[in-house]
Amino acid sequence: MMAEGRFTNPVVASLAGVRDFFSGQKLESRLTDDDRADGKTVVITGATSGLGFALAVDFAKRGARVIMACRSQIPEAGERVKKLSGSDTVEMRYLDLSKIKTIHAFVQSLVSDGITLDVCILNAAVALPGPRKTETGQDEFFQVNYLSNVTLTLLMIQHGVLELKEAGRLSRLIFISSDSHQGATYIDYDEFGRYFEYGVSKAISNYSYFKLVLNTYATELSKRVNKNKVLLGINAICPGPVHSNIVKEAPWLLRKVLNGIFWIVFRPPAKAALPVVYMALSPDYEGKTNEYLHMFNPKRMDPKVYEPEEGLKLWERSVELLREIDPDHNTYLGVSQGPVSQLF
Ligand SMILES: NC(=O)c1ccc[n+]([C@@H]2O[C@H](COP(=O)([O-])OP(=O)(O)OC[C@H]3O[C@@H](n4cnc5c(N)ncnc54)[C@H](OP(=O)(O)O)[C@@H]3O)[C@@H](O)[C@H]2O)c1
Repeated sequence: MMAEGRFTNPVVASLAGVRDFFSGQKLESRLTDDDRADGKTVVITGATSGLGFALAVDFAKRGARVIMACRSQIPEAGERVKKLSGSDTVEMRYLDLSKIKTIHAFVQSLVSDGITLDVCILNAAVALPGPRKTETGQDEFFQVNYLSNVTLTLLMIQHGVLELKEAGRLSRLIFISSDSHQGATYIDYDEFGRYFEYGVSKAISNYSYFKLVLNTYATELSKRVNKNKVLLGINAICPGPVHSNIVKEAPWLLRKVLNGIFWIVFRPPAKAALPVVYMALSPDYEGKTNEYLHMFNPKRMDPKVYEPEEGLKLWERSVELLREIDPDHNTYLGVSQGPVSQLF
């Protein structure tokens, strides 16, 4: 049996967003203009459009130094963020999550510039209509939406870009997820990291399935980093339905239908960004880890995400795969010194 996400039909998946559109927002009033980001440095992956772009504008308006980690639109998207936010402390750096080498170069550029982060938002993702092979022989869907985030987070932790702090205000790492992960199947290790042909319905179901994989990793990482005490806030959030470019690779007719639904019931990115900003800046989340928000509503993730043996197996298989495909894996895996060595 193949791994499956909650939805195999994109129209049904989009219509599930209708319920979210009308649902209550328990903690919405907890985010105020007093939640400022002055002096903070924030990285957002995939900040050229949709949620990531809106987050860049919002953080810049709140006074943050914003680093947009992107594979395209450099520097145009950054210029647009500057214009919309009125801030000058916005920059773009190249990062293509389908190419492992660029993850190393991106983290190295932060290290060279002496940058440490207060907030890191892992936002970039794709929704592809079918398989596409990356340079290292994986499926791009798997690599961008899941595996690249393992390399990125472990490199950032190992090199002190994301510091594990014993005292003071903790840094916050946020995984952008989707509530559609609820109900996806257990992780399937027959297909894990393997490239194979599949059709549209598997492609659609991949989206929610890889979010379950991502949440399982976030949970395992949080457990390993924060063994006896919280040193880094590691949390996940679903922004709810966002009117974005996520279906840009869907076939023409389907894209038209989905964009129609998006126009009517999906929320503008600037609005969808607010609970993410809340989780990143609010004192409510100081010292909190392995929490999950569905928009402004605290919630449990799918129960499978918390199963210790699921997290352990995912960690081990991810490390094994990265040892095979990343020629520079020895800068963050199997290290005998540095923060990551403590995670094994
Ligand atoms: N839209 C929704 O209803 C919804 C609901 C729940 C969760 N989410 C999540 O929200 C996040 C943002 O998605 P969105 O809806 O705002 O979609 P979007 O507008 O398509 O934005 C996705 C971003 O990811 C970037 N990206 C894609 N592949 C990349 C790669 N290989 N390397 C680096 N960046 C890459 C894109 O860059 P390019 O411009 O270069 O393609 C773009 O900036 C995703 O994690 C998504 O799963 C969305």
